[in-house]
Amino acid sequence: MPTNHNRPHAPRVGVWIQGALGDIATTMMVGALAIRQGLNSTVGMVTRIPPMDALDLASLDQLVFGGIDIKPSSLRESALAVHRSSRTFSHDTLQGVLPGLEAIEADILSDRDFSWRLRAPHDNAMPLADVVARMREHIRAFRARHALDHVVAVNLVSAEPRAPESDALQRLDAFTAAIAADRKDLITSSMCGTHAAFLEGCSYINFTPNAGAGFPAMQELAERERLPYYGNDGKTGETLVKTVLAPMFAWRNLQVMSWEGVNMLGNNDGATLHDPDNRVNKIHNKESVLKEILGYNPHAGVDINYVPSLGDWKTAWDLIHFRGFLDVPMTMQFTWQGCDSILAAPLVLDMVRLSEFAARHGEHGAMRHLSGFFKNPIGVNEMAMHLQFDMLTQYARRHLRQAGKKEIGGSVA
Ligand SMILES: NC(=O)c1ccc[n+]([C@@H]2O[C@H](COP(=O)([O-])OP(=O)(O)OC[C@H]3O[C@@H](n4cnc5c(N)ncnc54)[C@H](O)[C@@H]3O)[C@@H](O)[C@H]2O)c1
Repeated sequence: MPTNHNRPHAPRVGVWIQGALGDIATTMMVGALAIRQGLNSTVGMVTRIPPMDALDLASLDQLVFGGIDIKPSSLRESALAVHRSSRTFSHDTLQGVLPGLEAIEADILSDRDFSWRLRAPHDNAMPLADVVARMREHIRAFRARHALDHVVAVNLVSAEPRAPESDALQRLDAFTAAIAADRKDLITSSMCGTHAAFLEGCSYINFTPNAGAGFPAMQELAERERLPYYGNDGKTGETLVKTVLAPMFAWRNLQVMSWEGVNMLGNNDGATLHDPDNRVNKIHNKESVLKEILGYNPHAGVDINYVPSLGDWKTAWDLIHFRGFLDVPMTMQFTWQGCDSILAAPLVLDMVRLSEFAARHGEHGAMRHLSGFFKNPIGVNEMAMHLQFDMLTQYARRHLRQAGKKEIGGSVA
């Protein structure tokens, strides 16, 4: 049994990252080290506000990072590149964490064989069964090397094209058969990563717009292995604001006629999403939140444009055209200028802590209390941010009650 939560010491928690050299992954590791060393505060982490801060969550000191990527690079290089292109962390922070990043380096593997295109499945010769076996070996070795009590797998790979509908997505036996038959036209690389993670007893978070654990075959496996999971597609910018603002229009009976959004970003994610095949899931996730909150579908368009000079700094410009009493039309516009990785990285740390906590408490299946972290939350139709946040605070309070703890202004008695 890969998970051992009965040890008397504070658990050592592995964070196994698919896409470990990307901007979010790099920023997350830089951030965790910087906070550990007292170089930066924990602002931006939801688990540091009440009542979540009163839960017995793993501390950042307990986290051990590792993972895979397809880029032939190093964590040090990735951190220098993020610093150069976006200046999101200071030179002092970077210098302070470099020795820590170098210590993680041995646990970050680069493997081109973990990449193929659904449209050109024969580009990659390694059979899927071998891909999954190798991914599993990597997780197993990581767990053994660091004597980890539990591993949380996090999907942070680039956006992938949407896999075609097939039985492989519907049933675990068909998924397993598709792996055995090397059906790279049906199965994406990050699906193999999810499969490997569940088979190795990991809890699982999918921050990407990719399939993750959002399809029945993978949920069947997670249920069989009694593991907690959640996703899809982190909610960090435009959609976050949308799901906070849209309830206001609903509560005032102001009818939204059009809600148009243009997103401009210049990081690797922006470059990947420039390809129409790669942005299908993302656009769908961004568009679908309004119907659930408003109860009708306004005219809504979402554009994603790649603007290299912006680096990791995303600009979202939204125009909301609505009408009020006597059908008078009015307009609201907002401009969101956020740094993508700085918004995303602390949420991933939050969810790693909450996933390990869930696993330690024997919880399995979809962690619906994490819905507020995602654009397309699995098994939750509620899209309004405040109600999703309530789900998280209620979850925390239930656990605090069960543990006989009282919340007092953010501390615990
Ligand atoms: N930043 C945000 O606010 C935000 C919000 C929601 C979702 N996301 C999603 O999070 C993911 C990561 O974002 P990012 O900005 O770090 O992107 P990024 O492009 O900087 O990083 C992605 C990394 O994944 C690697 N990769 C690609 N295919 C792989 C594979 N098959 N196996 C292993 N590694 C692979 C790439 O080499 C790259 O290093 C993207 O899918 C993005 O759409 C980001």
